[in-house]
Amino acid sequence: MSKQIYARIAGTGSYLPEKILTNDDLSKFVDTSDEWITSRSGIRQRHVAAEGETTSDLGYHAAVRAMEAAGVTAEELDLIIVGTTTPDLIFPSTACLIQHRLGADGCAAFDVNAACSGFIYAFTVADKFIRSGASKTVLVIGAETLTRMIDWSDRTTCVLFGDGAGAVVLKADEETGILSTHLHADGGKKELLWNPVGVSVGFKPEEHNVGVRIKMAGSEVFKYAVKAMDSVAEETLEANGIDCHDIDWLIPHQANLRIIESTAKRLDMPMDRVIVTVDKHGNTSSGSVPLALDEAVRSGRIQRGQLVLLEAFGGGFTWGSALLRY
Ligand code: COA
Repeated sequence: MSKQIYARIAGTGSYLPEKILTNDDLSKFVDTSDEWITSRSGIRQRHVAAEGETTSDLGYHAAVRAMEAAGVTAEELDLIIVGTTTPDLIFPSTACLIQHRLGADGCAAFDVNAACSGFIYAFTVADKFIRSGASKTVLVIGAETLTRMIDWSDRTTCVLFGDGAGAVVLKADEETGILSTHLHADGGKKELLWNPVGVSVGFKPEEHNVGVRIKMAGSEVFKYAVKAMDSVAEETLEANGIDCHDIDWLIPHQANLRIIESTAKRLDMPMDRVIVTVDKHGNTSSGSVPLALDEAVRSGRIQRGQLVLLEAFGGGFTWGSALLRY
């Protein structure tokens, strides 16, 4: 009988643009304050891509670090998936741009757009490719330049988002790895969190009077996100026949510290077992979970053999989770 194949994280990497924008910096050009932003969201600063710096630049640097950590060369990659909602171009995909820069031409490469759940969606697809035997070494990236579609005069959104990228190399392994993944979407809530401009609707930013900008009904998104994160965590525990106390680390999407604390409380997890980067990075959408994962791995908090729960929520709405034995 053939053995079960798992997708195992062989290496992680991340990259943040150099420029930092603090809450005090923001309060110089929009009517807000460090006190308001910190108390409502937990965010203290965010990174902002330099002029000309693109999502594929961020993703490329994160990928190089993940490949170095995994000891994997470009020739070994047989699939590249990028979760992003801010691609460099309409096409080619960001995955194709990164593939070429890595020198991995020839392997399959594509993007997944699931807004802030983009990395979890991409990670899930990669897991299925490896489990099925179709791929052996997969590069999964979450990369975003969300600040490129922010209305800097709208204080209800501009204080929340930042730029950044994270990446993992997944390898086929007989011992351990991703145990389960769970994805969901609710397309009926699109107008609560969206960018109404696009190719096929005519690309007419002036009709929405917003430019190419994120629009969000913050408190409604907040309530939905809390419920979705709770239910997908519950579903993950049930699917694996485990108790919340079995989990060593929770890595939730980094959108708002209050959402993170609420999820942790429902899982009865003390905050010292929850990876938090939202204070330093803001919401980097698809970049948030792999950035937090890389930070936790490189700081030595997450150790081989530990049980880690990843969770994300984003526009669509989309949400999902992955449970893995690191
Ligand atoms: N600075 C100062 N005041 C602000 C502000 C800012 N940056 N943004 C909003 N306000 C004001 C509002 O205008 C409102 O004023 P009013 O009562 O006079 O109308 C007041 O603060 C309260 O706004 P509200 O939207 O009810 O605040 P909130 O407690 O819901 O917090 C968010 C706002 C956006 C932080 C919160 O709703 C949130 O995080 N939602 C989820 C967002 C998210 O995670 N999105 C991405 C999902 S992937």
